[in-house]
Amino acid sequence: MSYHHGGSSSPSPRPLLFYQRLFEIEPSYRLLFKKDMKSQKLKLLKMLSFVVKSLNWSGEQWQDTVPQEDDLFLVVLALGRRHASIYKIPADSYEHVGQALIWTLHQGLGDAFTDDIKAAWIRVYTLLAKTMLVAGEAKEISDVKLGLTRG
Ligand code: HEM
Repeated sequence: MSYHHGGSSSPSPRPLLFYQRLFEIEPSYRLLFKKDMKSQKLKLLKMLSFVVKSLNWSGEQWQDTVPQEDDLFLVVLALGRRHASIYKIPADSYEHVGQALIWTLHQGLGDAFTDDIKAAWIRVYTLLAKTMLVAGEAKEISDVKLGLTRG
């Protein structure tokens, strides 16, 4: 699965369009973001490409050991915690952000955004959002101790 549209001259989706759409759906969300949105746009895109890459692993790669900071599951849990505790994101905004994302992908991909691709993105976003919301209620990952020993 990819959000790059092969063959098109314009890169898609455009993050600016995403935020414009989000603030159109809910103008009050502007207040959640710092004034400088430039780095925010890149971070969101980087995170989405990391998620797509992590889900796109080949069969053998699932056996590899990955560092904690590259582990999709742990990264998404920590992201969910930051959204709840640092950015104070209201739970119902996840639905609006999902709508803005799907809308932007449709704008960027046009006919290439088929029903199957749309359904796949909705699944991935729903999974991410639910995981982040649950993590927002949970305790710090580094506070969780496991008493496992080798051998
Ligand atoms: C699947 C859902 C989401 C993903 C993948 C995502 C991704 C990110 C990433 C990568 C960052 C950069 C900072 C960090 O890593 O902690 C970030 C920050 C942020 N996100 Fe999200 N996010 C999601 C949902 C939401 C929702 C629902 C909102 C509500 C409007 C939101 C608002 C924000 C805000 C306000 C920041 C901080 C920006 C700042 O420092 O000014 N995000 N998000």
